[in-house]
Amino acid sequence: MSKIKLIFGFLTLYASILRTHAADTISANQILRYNQTITSPQETFELGFFSPPNSTNHYVGIWYKKISSGTVVWVANRNTPLTDTSGELTLTLQGVLILRDATKGNVVWSSTNSPTMSKKNPIGQLLDTGNFIVHEEGEGINQEDPVWQSFDFITDTLLPGMKQGWNLMTGLERRFTSWRSPNDPAFGEFSFWIDTRGYPQLILTKGREIKFRVGPWNGLRFSGMSNLRSNSLYNFTFVVNQREIYYQYNPIDTSIITRLVLQPSGRIERLVWIDSKQEWSLYMAAEIDHCNQYALCGPFGRCSIDKSPVCECLEGFQPTSPDQWRDTDWSQGCQHSVPLDCNPGEGFNKYLNLKLPDTRGSWYNHTMTLVECEQMCKSNCSCTAYANSNISGRGSGCFLWFGGLIDIRTIADDGDTIYIRLSASELESIEDSNSSSPGRRPIRIIVPMASVVLVILISIYLFYHFNRKKQPMAL
Ligand SMILES: *[C@@H]1O[C@H](CO)[C@@H](O)[C@H](O)[C@H]1NC(C)=O
Ligand SMILES: *[C@@H]1O[C@H](CO)[C@@H](O)[C@H](O)[C@H]1NC(C)=O
Ligand SMILES: *[C@@H]1O[C@H](CO)[C@@H](O)[C@H](O)[C@H]1NC(C)=O
Ligand SMILES: *[C@@H]1O[C@H](CO)[C@@H](O)[C@H](O)[C@H]1NC(C)=O
Ligand SMILES: *[C@@H]1O[C@H](CO)[C@@H](O)[C@H](O)[C@H]1NC(C)=O
Ligand SMILES: *[C@@H]1O[C@H](CO)[C@@H](O)[C@H](O)[C@H]1NC(C)=O
Ligand SMILES: *[C@@H]1O[C@H](CO)[C@@H](O)[C@H](O)[C@H]1NC(C)=O
Repeated sequence: MSKIKLIFGFLTLYASILRTHAADTISANQILRYNQTITSPQETFELGFFSPPNSTNHYVGIWYKKISSGTVVWVANRNTPLTDTSGELTLTLQGVLILRDATKGNVVWSSTNSPTMSKKNPIGQLLDTGNFIVHEEGEGINQEDPVWQSFDFITDTLLPGMKQGWNLMTGLERRFTSWRSPNDPAFGEFSFWIDTRGYPQLILTKGREIKFRVGPWNGLRFSGMSNLRSNSLYNFTFVVNQREIYYQYNPIDTSIITRLVLQPSGRIERLVWIDSKQEWSLYMAAEIDHCNQYALCGPFGRCSIDKSPVCECLEGFQPTSPDQWRDTDWSQGCQHSVPLDCNPGEGFNKYLNLKLPDTRGSWYNHTMTLVECEQMCKSNCSCTAYANSNISGRGSGCFLWFGGLIDIRTIADDGDTIYIRLSASELESIEDSNSSSPGRRPIRIIVPMASVVLVILISIYLFYHFNRKKQPMAL
């Protein structure tokens, strides 16, 4: 009895060694078929074939294994589904992943179009981060420069440690694109990506149309996302340098399972797995509220969600088309109340608590001071506004805008500060209206009184001076 038990024990041990040994990798020329999967070492993620709910199509993808809902985080053949179970995934000796339809004999998907450098012993490995990475067996896993990795091809889910953005050295762009529907992982209408025309900014697009900007990164957070703050669940960063531009987040505690998803509806959601309820719970969403509609109030307009109507012109500006504005068509926006003519008297008015405008076409320098920034803007007639690019600490860096300022909204608590160019007379009248406010009135009275006293004193001095010089001559 005990002998049988022992043998049985050995067999299970052997089987488990076999399984764990082979489970997280696929080696060259090995075939992964329908019903076969590979699993990351701690069984966090699994890779294999799946069908979306209510769909008869089959896809190769990666999903959570330990948590039971089987949520898919990555899909290989998004636009080229398999219609039966004859799919075969292989890794070639060149390190290329190929998905074949064995019935029809055609390749439906491959990991790279151009053959990569020939490898001696490529291996595909599924990591506990959810990254499926092809590398040379025996060499350490180099996530900066692998042969291929699924993290470079975001589907609709940004996992911790993934970089959303650009590798400027290789030109590789990682952007997420929504599924077409909950039943179809094909490329949907919405993309969430980093636009690098001007200071890099994250935008949500539907087709070619911009739906939403999170606002430029101001050193601490995105200017328009006042709900994205440091928290106990995860930290985040936005990196802009010569080599890379990306957004990334990481859980602070590894027991927290969180993901960022671009839903087929275009909603960007941060979800957290609640183990006791066995479900994903919504932690935060980038709500596309009225004021987040891109450029709703037009150039130099400002959107305030708690006002009616929501659009108003910035101080020193008036509606470009008053009739349209009255009819709540704000698309024409606002223009300077007194047009600019690049007169040296022009200056800048300070506007507080705003989401910084669209940075397409803007200019930036991370080391300049605010004073240098103002000088630079002032010396260029087409520069319309400036701001610090990093509000952390005492503020540093410089953003310059040229032309119309688009997509500004009020951020009630701690929005950003921007300085906008106005004509001398407009600045004067703002100063006047500032100083005629009750709190400033004493200054308003003291200054003229002081000047009157000064004039009298000078007259008395001149009078005596004149008389003293005259007297000797008279004598
Ligand atoms: C996959 O597994 C299921 C259940 O084990 C089985 O019924 C089915 O025949 C398998 N399909 C293929 C194609 O092997
Ligand atoms: C699948 O189909 C059923 C019945 O038509 C429906 O109730 C369910 O909502 C569908 N699921 C999804 C994810 O579309
Ligand atoms: C976020 O937290 C992780 C884990 O504590 C840490 O390794 C990482 O450096 C942090 N990143 C940032 C940007 O603070
Ligand atoms: C940024 O500004 C600093 C200080 O004015 C200057 O030395 C540097 O060359 C500027 N960098 C760029 C890219 O313009
Ligand atoms: C003003 O800035 C624009 C945009 O950066 C630039 O094209 C133009 O050459 C600048 N003009 C001057 C006089 O510096
Ligand atoms: C922003 O300013 C803070 C404080 O001065 C500094 O520590 C940080 O490195 C700056 N960030 C960037 C991106 O320059
Ligand atoms: C007007 O007052 C506001 C707030 O008191 C101030 O920020 C702004 O700089 C003033 N504008 C001028 C032109 O003095």
